Amino acid sequence: MTVGKIAVIGTGYVGLTSGACLASLGHQVVCGDVVPEKVASLSAGHVPILEDGLDALVAEGLASGNLSFVLGADVAVKGAKYIFLSLPTPDDGDGRADLSIVRAVAKQIGPLLEPGAIVITKSTVPVGTAKKLEKIIGREDVALVSNPEFLQEGTAVKNFMKPDRVVVGSSDLAAAREVGELYASLGAPLVVTSAESSEMIKYAANAFLAMKLSFVNSIAALAEEVGADIQEITRGMKDDPRIGDKFLKAGPGWGGSCFPKDTNALAAIADDHDIRFPLLDATVTANRQAKDRVVDKIRAAVGGDLEGKTVALWGLTFKAGTDDLRDSPALLISKLLAGEGALLRAYDPTVHEDLEASARNPEITVASDPHAAAEGADVIALLTEWPEFADIDLQKTAVSTGTRTIVDGRNMLSPEAVTAAGFTLIPLGRQP
Ligand code: UDX
Repeated sequence: MTVGKIAVIGTGYVGLTSGACLASLGHQVVCGDVVPEKVASLSAGHVPILEDGLDALVAEGLASGNLSFVLGADVAVKGAKYIFLSLPTPDDGDGRADLSIVRAVAKQIGPLLEPGAIVITKSTVPVGTAKKLEKIIGREDVALVSNPEFLQEGTAVKNFMKPDRVVVGSSDLAAAREVGELYASLGAPLVVTSAESSEMIKYAANAFLAMKLSFVNSIAALAEEVGADIQEITRGMKDDPRIGDKFLKAGPGWGGSCFPKDTNALAAIADDHDIRFPLLDATVTANRQAKDRVVDKIRAAVGGDLEGKTVALWGLTFKAGTDDLRDSPALLISKLLAGEGALLRAYDPTVHEDLEASARNPEITVASDPHAAAEGADVIALLTEWPEFADIDLQKTAVSTGTRTIVDGRNMLSPEAVTAAGFTLIPLGRQP
């Protein structure tokens, strides 16, 4: 069932995935962006991000004519009934989400919208944003609906096409339901609520997942001290449906473009309303401690002093399946190691340009494969759970590297294989 034209403003991870998926549902979708080169390359079918299935969907949308890309929000909203805002809301430095881009676009498109148009906030925005945008647009005949995304990077297409639930919120419940109808063919539970509750659902969900991970990582640290094994502990927890089996893997801490930003933004919202939220503060603190513990293991592995030592990093992205380095634990750990004088050689299947040349990560030399990264290293640290690391040829690694120690920050290497290749394994939350 196709409905009125859909405009998607902003073609980043959220906007591009949402636009392509909505087009594949048969809707007429026009995506607008301000970067001419981006509009041109997307119009040619070049997808700049690593998202499983997205290339095919964009190609399909372009071929069917259901999907197109134009320069400027003003052009995209022409004749549109539904306008999705998937714009950057970066951390403004003190944890609050910077809404300047969202405000500017709302101001720009307000006068151009068709009567009866519905503006939809798709990217994560602070609670109260829908109400603010209603005022900025200031039109009785235009509704504002919050429709938060729950897309995990790397599986965003699957998450969009098979959502656990669709959430829509607005002061105009009929408009909220109308937006919910866009997803009707997906057969997911529809939650219709107020704009404020919808905006809060997104923050509460992400902060809860971050808290769950910080809890697991803290249990992992304690497990090491008491002679337990975090993989056994979570194996004994996961069958309780109130706990479940997801987000129970200990790691170097959570990262990415969402959890850090959303936990900070939620803390700022609580602070702005004088609500103390110690659980959230502890979640963020525990996350930093998880990274510090990995640095401690790496430092201990080279004898307690990192000055002049070479650390090989296997994995730089914030998780496997994505090419996203934003707020990656591996990059923060790299900075901490470099701060103590370590030299860093890294391999990541999605990172090719030399980060040492990039202003942001000058301390990292990027190698072409994991064995090259390990050349002459004093320790190897596995930080991202790329599948290729699970069955890496450690005998080959042993030839080129100077070290016999591997810190496995994702507990993904087989202790037997590591030992058989003559290495010492330093796991996380397990006994060495
Ligand atoms: C997250 C939410 O999952 C998604 O619903 C929301 O829309 C956007 O933010 P994403 O940022 O892509 O998605 O990352 P996610 O897959 O949730 O992982 C977040 C972090 O947790 C990553 O650093 C990952 O490595 C870490 N993680 C995840 C673990 O350390 N252990 C786990 O078991 C799972």
